[in-house]
Amino acid sequence: MTDPRPIPLLVPHLPDRHALAPYLEQIDRNRHYSNFGPLNHALEARLTSLFAEHAAHPVHVATTSSATLGLELTLHSLGLPPGSGVVVPALTFVASLTAILRAGHVPVIADIDADSWLITPEIAAEAAARTGARAVLTVAAFGQPQDTQRWSAFRQQTGLAVVIDAAGAFGSQWAEAADVPVVYSMHATKSLAAGEGGFVASGDRDLVAEVRQLSNFGINLDTHAGLPVGHLSQVGSNAKLSEYHAAVAHASLDHWPAQAALRQQIHRAYRQTLDASCGEHLQWQAGVTLAAPTIFCVRMAQEARAQLEQLCHASNIATRRWYQPLLHQHAAKVAPTIKMPVPVAESVASGMIGLPFSSFMTQDDINRVAEAVGLATAHSNQPSLTLDSHHG
Ligand SMILES: Cc1ncc(COP(=O)(O)O)c(C=O)c1O
Repeated sequence: MTDPRPIPLLVPHLPDRHALAPYLEQIDRNRHYSNFGPLNHALEARLTSLFAEHAAHPVHVATTSSATLGLELTLHSLGLPPGSGVVVPALTFVASLTAILRAGHVPVIADIDADSWLITPEIAAEAAARTGARAVLTVAAFGQPQDTQRWSAFRQQTGLAVVIDAAGAFGSQWAEAADVPVVYSMHATKSLAAGEGGFVASGDRDLVAEVRQLSNFGINLDTHAGLPVGHLSQVGSNAKLSEYHAAVAHASLDHWPAQAALRQQIHRAYRQTLDASCGEHLQWQAGVTLAAPTIFCVRMAQEARAQLEQLCHASNIATRRWYQPLLHQHAAKVAPTIKMPVPVAESVASGMIGLPFSSFMTQDDINRVAEAVGLATAHSNQPSLTLDSHHG
């Protein structure tokens, strides 16, 4: 444990200048730098056909400058009365919360499932029944996809609108249900990286058109809208994706299959190494094998995590308690919010740790991390991970 060579938490892997060159040359020729330029159109078209392969209906795509803005504008486009309750899981990035608040609504912070670490339709239904919430911002936490068909059934049964925050889940989460829009991030650390950026995918053409309009300040560009072109039809924002970011996204898409395969391979080797050394002390997020994992999360006993954090710190291995503090803990400062009891999220968070992960990780790096995890869990006298509280 004396190797001082740092192992960083994440190392973004974006296309290099050679891969970008053909797209930058297009920008030089087009002299179009933003405002729904040709590269943006082509990117939306590429994503549209990719998503169509995973849906029985046409999928429409609108790019945005970030997932956070994509979420805010998608929530806005639902047309809910101001101040509506929107159910959101406690275990997610703060952007899920801020998007609800900035769309003018009230987050209803709810619990997660003990195995998948995701909010489920059952948990959301209970939270909505108790609070009168009108929508759910469900989350594909850590890239683990949500079941769109189950959320579509939930939507039809309850009448509540559903939006999926799939910021980190490109390639694993698709938009199979026409009535459940999905929002993705193209931040540098995400599965499909453009530096910054995002997009909304949905079978609902009108919703996507509205998000696009909202991303352009809310200015009407539709000659058939019954409102003069150029007039503000609603209060939007500037959430347009620049042509430069679209260029990076194109190059990332070109390289995505190879990147995804590499990440999967490293993730598999990493998990096998940890399982072989101390698997009985570890709990993994249940679900499907991710198409292109970008982070590496595991749960262990609380004392073992504390021990591991110290060991890693001493050995130059970066760690992060992803999505912590939980939303209800942040929310003390960002009222108004409604907080449901979240015992499962608290229990999962108490032992969860993000370990280094990138497409540059070597087996030596993995072995160093595994050695630390082995030491930390061996000294733990609380190996049991059984949760004593489950959602009823
Ligand atoms: C669940 C979740 N939602 C939203 C975001 C925000 O994405 P962006 O940085 O593109 O705004 C993130 C980013 O980490 C995220 O993990």
